[in-house]
Amino acid sequence: MGPRPADLGVDATVKQGMTETPRRASRSAALVAACRMLAAELPEPERLIDDPYAHLVVDDVALAAARADEPLQNVIRLRTRYIDDAIRAFVACQIPPRPQVLLLGAGFDARAFRMDVDADFFEVDFPATLALKAEALSGVEPKVRRVAVPVDLAAAGFVDPLIGAGFDRERSTIVVCEGVINYLDAATAESVVEQVARLLSPGGQLVADYVEMAWFKGGDFERPTGAISKRLRDGGEPLRDGLPDIHGTLDRHGFDVIDDEALELLPPRYGLEPRERHYPARMVTTVRRSRATPA
Ligand SMILES: C[S@@+](CC[C@H](N)C(=O)[O-])C[C@H]1O[C@@H](n2cnc3c(N)ncnc32)[C@H](O)[C@@H]1O
Repeated sequence: MGPRPADLGVDATVKQGMTETPRRASRSAALVAACRMLAAELPEPERLIDDPYAHLVVDDVALAAARADEPLQNVIRLRTRYIDDAIRAFVACQIPPRPQVLLLGAGFDARAFRMDVDADFFEVDFPATLALKAEALSGVEPKVRRVAVPVDLAAAGFVDPLIGAGFDRERSTIVVCEGVINYLDAATAESVVEQVARLLSPGGQLVADYVEMAWFKGGDFERPTGAISKRLRDGGEPLRDGLPDIHGTLDRHGFDVIDDEALELLPPRYGLEPRERHYPARMVTTVRRSRATPA
């Protein structure tokens, strides 16, 4: 087992402007890393992904929660595979200079350590989460150039910190928002899309998962997702509105949607049967059509 997220200090918060940035590392990040870790127990083709470093950031609590929730493991494997494929496809069709991969709310995503792609990686998350990740993965060499940029997305803009850290707006970039949008309130999520639009040149991509608004209105999804929703809320990371009108927001900021599918309906793309739907989560891939906001 790796170091415990609690080692960085549990319940404390640090004031930063009008918001509170958690001092402890993200528990939701540990939970989804645990789901990736458990993929190793599955045979191909069901495994879908290979994350040999997930065990370094996972603790017993996260592992037990992930093990108890097979539908969650299922959607996490599918979204990880979808995004791995999107990054590989994007990078493969770029010409020099080397493209960039920007992971917003990177958590314990180990892509920079496990993906052999010709790209520079930038990772944005809360300081405490990136600090624990640095400690847990200190013995592992990244496969790519990796730059960690600690920012609270709800408290501050990330454009200037990224540029200050060497991000180049003229280079082709794919932005990944994996398991992040619905931890943000609507104003913050809208602002994230607007900032991504400012960072990307035309042809750049934004790949994200999001929770269908039907879930917030109750109904079929509520019962199967009640336990995970409560766990997240109790852990201080409640699910929020995110982008209630995601297609309107993307269009407003200059993004064309080229793919939008429910996670549990993705398996046929990988030679598997579609799953029964438990989670109201979808994947969306979008392409930047032009700069909507002047620099
Ligand atoms: C469910 S985890 C997903 C982590 C990672 N993308 C993955 O899929 O493994 C959500 C992540 O979003 C980050 N996050 C949520 N709100 C944030 C904020 N306001 N600023 C920065 N990061 C945030 C959390 O710290 C956490 O790492």
